[in-house]
Amino acid sequence: MVSTLPEPQIEELKPGIKAPVRETLLTPRFYTTDFDAIAAMDISSQEEELRAMVAEMKADYNRHHFVRNDSFNQSWEHLDSKTRSVFVDFLERSCTSEFSGFLLFKELSRKLKTTKPLLSEVFSLMARDEARHAGFLNKAMSDFNISLDLGYLTKNRTYTFFKPEWIIYAVYLSEKIGYWRYITIYRHLENHPEYQFYPLFQFFESWCQDENRHGDIFTALLRSQRKMWDSWHGKLWAKFFLLTVFVTHSLTVDERADFYESVGLDAREFDRIVVRNTNATAARSFPVVLDVEHPEFFPRVYRCSERNMQLAAIDRTDAPKVVKFLRKLPLMAGIGWDMLRLYLLKSIDAEALRGTVR
Ligand SMILES: [Fe+2]
Ligand SMILES: [Fe+2]
Repeated sequence: MVSTLPEPQIEELKPGIKAPVRETLLTPRFYTTDFDAIAAMDISSQEEELRAMVAEMKADYNRHHFVRNDSFNQSWEHLDSKTRSVFVDFLERSCTSEFSGFLLFKELSRKLKTTKPLLSEVFSLMARDEARHAGFLNKAMSDFNISLDLGYLTKNRTYTFFKPEWIIYAVYLSEKIGYWRYITIYRHLENHPEYQFYPLFQFFESWCQDENRHGDIFTALLRSQRKMWDSWHGKLWAKFFLLTVFVTHSLTVDERADFYESVGLDAREFDRIVVRNTNATAARSFPVVLDVEHPEFFPRVYRCSERNMQLAAIDRTDAPKVVKFLRKLPLMAGIGWDMLRLYLLKSIDAEALRGTVR
């Protein structure tokens, strides 16, 4: 049984502009990296692949996709307040992570203009897509009389520094998990149109193809760096990012079970579909993938999630800081232990699974 967060209240920065959610380990992050190190990367082994991707991106299949049609021209006042607030939360998180991708890609494109023109072009095309995605989501928020001040967000969010290799593992996974999230919701609503309470979901099919292409570009980057897939430390990092991205997903989905319920999905079932598929997809790019079918895998992940919700419940009490900390300590240790045990589960050798070394 999943217990969810209390219904979130919409906090405003100024009238109509939503205050960004408090940053935690689970909120979408903004990243920066060592641009000089990326400029110095030898990508020659994947150059042909990247040129083909640029040609495909330039074709811009979704040029006319993100246009609001007549189905948006109506009032949403009939939605109950709970559905509205969990949906606005979904829109905000999605918009923030799309916008975070835009900022990173834009900056990469700018910084690599003279040193790596091919990569600069790739990143500029990806930034184009993410800007569309974020803009479309922000426009959807405005249907609920609220929007995100993306300029404010750019200046006031903290940027997490990731080494180029970490960026490649993490962004690859976030693109592919994004693909599986959007397509899973889309296919579900295609079969259950009675839950389609807002037209945004109809756009997810072509939208997720953008994320799929972005993921493939990161596959090319990953495969261009032999040490990322053909070394013991590459395998350890790959495993680390798979685990942290999947656990973050499971915890976030669990916390927001009400949203998934509002579109007729069981949160944990949705989570397992997305994790299993993303893991299977990653086997085409990563040196190792996780054994998500191991009988300990999901039970340990969901125990972390239950403890995470207990931590949030403690945070919401008025107890003094030190009391809160002492109550949280065993829960944090429990999460740490489960994460360690999950990390130590034997991974699956994806290179051997593919049979050939690219
Ligand atoms: Fe996107
Ligand atoms: Fe993307």
